[in-house]
Amino acid sequence: MERTYVMIKPDGVARGLMGEVLSRIEKKGLKVVAMKLAVMEEAKAKEHYAEHAARPFFPGLVSFITSAPSLSLVVEGRDSIKIMRAINGATKPAEAALGTIRGDFAMDTGRNIVHASDSLEAAEREIKIHFGNDKILEYKRSDDAYL
Ligand code: TYD
Ligand code: MG
Repeated sequence: MERTYVMIKPDGVARGLMGEVLSRIEKKGLKVVAMKLAVMEEAKAKEHYAEHAARPFFPGLVSFITSAPSLSLVVEGRDSIKIMRAINGATKPAEAALGTIRGDFAMDTGRNIVHASDSLEAAEREIKIHFGNDKILEYKRSDDAYL
C-alpha cells in the first residue's frame, strides 16, 4: 500500500490546527500509520529540504521548521501521495483552492501549515529521514478499501 510523509509544520501546531488537519486526512479515508510530535533537528530539516538548499528562502525555512514542535505522520492508502497533495493545496496560499488546508487556513507561502511528499521517491526518502527504523503500524480501519 502506498505511503507518504506528511508534516504539520510549526505554524499549524502553534495555531491549534493539528486536529483539523488530522480530521481531514482521516475523513478522506487515509490511514495514519505513524505519528511523532517533536522539534525537528536541524540536520533532518536540511536533509528534508535538500532540493531547496540553493534557494534564498532556505535558511529561513530551516530555522522556521526547527523553531518549535511539528507533527510528523506516515499516511497510507491507495494513491496517498497524490491525494495528500490535493488535501494540502497549492504551495502558495493565494493559489490554493478553497476547500484545501492551505486555501482555507493560510496566507503566507512560508507559513503554509502542511507538507506532503511529492513523489514515490520523495515519500520513501522522507519517511526514512523522519522515522528511520521506527515502527510503522498495521491495523484495520472499518472503511478499509478491499478491492
Ligand atoms: P516547495 O517544495 O516548492 O512546496 P511544497 O511544500 O508545496 O512541496 O517548497 C517547500 C516549502 O518551502 C514550501 O512549503 C514553503 C517554503 N517556500 C518558501 O518559503 N518560499 C518560496 O518561494 C517557496 C517556493 C517555498
Ligand atoms: Mg516540496
